[in-house]
Amino acid sequence: MPEPVTPVTFPPAFLWGAATSAYQIEGAVREDGRTPSIWDTFSHTPGKTAGGETGDIAVEHYHRYRDDVALMAELGLTAYRFSISWSRVQPTGRGPAVQRGLDFYRNLVDELLAHGIKPAVTLYHWDLPQELEDAGGWPERDTALRFAEYAQIVGDALGDRVEQWITLNEPWCSAFLGYGSGVHAPGRTDPVASLRAAHHLNLAHGLGTSALRATMPARNSVAVSLNSSVVRPLSQDPADLAAARRIDDLANGVFHGPMLHGAYPETLLAATSSVTDWSYVLDGDLAAINQPLDALGLNYYTPTLVSAAAASADGPRADGHGASSFSPWPGADDVAFHQTPGERTEMGWTIDPTGLHDLIMRYSGEAPGLPLYVTENGAAYDDKPDPDGRVHDPERIAYLHGHLSAVRRAITDGADVRGYYLWSLMDNFEWAYGYGKRFGAVYVDYATQARTPKSSALWYRQAARTGTLPPVTAAE
Ligand code: FCB
Repeated sequence: MPEPVTPVTFPPAFLWGAATSAYQIEGAVREDGRTPSIWDTFSHTPGKTAGGETGDIAVEHYHRYRDDVALMAELGLTAYRFSISWSRVQPTGRGPAVQRGLDFYRNLVDELLAHGIKPAVTLYHWDLPQELEDAGGWPERDTALRFAEYAQIVGDALGDRVEQWITLNEPWCSAFLGYGSGVHAPGRTDPVASLRAAHHLNLAHGLGTSALRATMPARNSVAVSLNSSVVRPLSQDPADLAAARRIDDLANGVFHGPMLHGAYPETLLAATSSVTDWSYVLDGDLAAINQPLDALGLNYYTPTLVSAAAASADGPRADGHGASSFSPWPGADDVAFHQTPGERTEMGWTIDPTGLHDLIMRYSGEAPGLPLYVTENGAAYDDKPDPDGRVHDPERIAYLHGHLSAVRRAITDGADVRGYYLWSLMDNFEWAYGYGKRFGAVYVDYATQARTPKSSALWYRQAARTGTLPPVTAAE
């Protein structure tokens, strides 16, 4: 007799969300006063994105947001995480705001609320106004001060109707892919600049949190979304354990150290001392960064497997977001990165739900008492419509089932996880990969912009409506 399957059921208040970001979906890059961000410049630079693709049009969400929100409601979402385009709101990255830019987000939020969907706003998902990059970008302290001003503007405009706030999305990518390996905008390859950027992103988070608190109702919640890595050593050999520690500091401790504990890990400072003296960390910075938070967002896709070694033949990997001969791991040239065993998604990322469970349990300990959200998790597959126009994506259903079950196990193990945001609502511009990688629960035909929910979206709807994961075959 087959084993009875225990239903995987979530607490009633659990949020069933989906996530997107501005540059990946909005398009309309030259409308209503918006100016270029570093991603406009980067994607228009030959050789930087697959096929030279850009977010100029993306999925036209700027013009189709009403239909998109109606679709979210049809899919039973109870929450939606999106980001604000800084250069749409504050075109020069400083000074007065453009009301038309803010109006777009006010209207979007009102539409969401009218459909009973909780908005979660990310202030910064990688699209720095180009003018601020021209003035030095994240390696310069002033960018953090500018971010605080921008946070105040957006907090003022939307704080009355948005309760959930996220300062930064994945600052690791901004700092180390943007300024280290150069596979992301602005495409610089300077290890010192990447560490300086990390510090000023931390400072931006702290100052931005204070600015939001000063302008918003106290009931609102402020968080940050980290792409904290689950770093595993290849063996229990002390040299491999030390390598894992080194990467853990550069992936995680460099952000959660100051944000949650008010200090950079000593081991990080020691391991990077040949690269930088950290003299840009000024008196008072760590206290400014270490703001009490209301929640923590975790983005998870795949674990990282490392060992001690001379630099591997392939060069250090760029965390799956693109290849570069420059390392995104300053001071860690003697660490080798390995492919984790198991099935992979279209990104080449190994599918490992245990990693999500481990990550949640780790941050449950790292930030006791802080509610956690999975603010991104999902998979890219080579989805195609069948002759009837339907899109079947059983692999994504299996991926979601596995990872949501891991979230449920973490809740059972005592973690306070309040919600899950599937990456992504719909297919979109996947950064350096252009439109080649489809992460959506909704299929987008880029020629017509038609949206078609994939079978995973219908599966997820059933999960959201019942609070219980349907079997993996349910929506096929
Ligand atoms: C995350 C990003 C998101 C998307 C997914 C696949 O690192 O935050 O924009 O690119 O990866």
